[in-house]
Amino acid sequence: MAELSQTDLDGIYAFAVKLGKDAGALLWKTAQLRMGDDAASAAEKDHVEKENAVDLVTETDENVEAFIKEQIAQKYPSHKFVGEESYSKGASRDYLIDDEPTWCVDPIDGTVNYIHLFPMFCVSVAFIYKSKPVIGVINAPFLRQFFSSCSGRGAWLNETQPLPLVRNPVPPMPENAPKGCVFSCEWGKDRRDQPDGNMHRKIESFVNMAAEIGGRDGRGGMVHGMRSLGSATLDLAYVAMGSFDIWWEGGCWEWDVAAGIAILNEAGGLITTANPPQDEATCTIEEVKLGSRLYLAIRAAGPSSTETGRQSQERTVREVWRRVRNLDYSRPGA
Ligand code: IPD
Repeated sequence: MAELSQTDLDGIYAFAVKLGKDAGALLWKTAQLRMGDDAASAAEKDHVEKENAVDLVTETDENVEAFIKEQIAQKYPSHKFVGEESYSKGASRDYLIDDEPTWCVDPIDGTVNYIHLFPMFCVSVAFIYKSKPVIGVINAPFLRQFFSSCSGRGAWLNETQPLPLVRNPVPPMPENAPKGCVFSCEWGKDRRDQPDGNMHRKIESFVNMAAEIGGRDGRGGMVHGMRSLGSATLDLAYVAMGSFDIWWEGGCWEWDVAAGIAILNEAGGLITTANPPQDEATCTIEEVKLGSRLYLAIRAAGPSSTETGRQSQERTVREVWRRVRNLDYSRPGA
């Protein structure tokens, strides 16, 4: 495998930014079609179910992915491609990303939002090198928000605003986090109504994070706010912005998070596993495995008089782990 220099990465970044803009424009064009009342609009309103009645795909998902795949194949024929819709058509649920240069793409993250014309949907394009997302581009055309990053080049909103938004200084995590934090989480697509299934474990975790301090047998987190946007990609983008302090989620896939992780890392955030390890209070906090389907993200944090920014992020991770349940999304190869 050829080594990529910063100059190589800069070239790939410029290509990814253009690709994200073009794909976002295509997505916005079809979103506007959904608002019309002619025959083309009627066709655009169709969608089909994948694994269940909340796992949906539209023709636009397919078309945007085909467009992105084609552009990449023309420019970088040797690079691998993992896209949500191509992957979903295959029988395997193995994790396919290795050290080779790979593009990881979600043509529409927040497909349910797209179908309902709730503005939280976006195109997500990541470039992964040596198993790490190093370039991320997220285009949310209804919101007119374009996030981008390249390792060594910073993270940006609309190409001019550096992330996180509040900087010089970047505030530390609140002293009693998660108290005082905005906590972002997702209900996800596993809706099996089993007493100890993922959905029930998530709900118990959400209630713990929301409840007053002292409530829930000492697990009450009294967060400032709970948010569920229906787009894992945008959740991560808003943690990179510093607008969300914490994002906790299980069940989404590498294409939902790869670009967001690239942007969050470049913005100084931390990302690790959603599942509390056995020795949660003392263990080393490891970087998340991209294909693990379990994610806990913390915004960038600056130092206080008693802690480094990283220490306050890690303290927050442990306080979240203390309040959430383990989720079961095991999968081959991850
Ligand atoms: C979904 C969204 C949702 C998350 C799901 C994802 P999609 O992606 O990111 O927020 O909870 O796990 O699959 O299907 O809209 O691309």
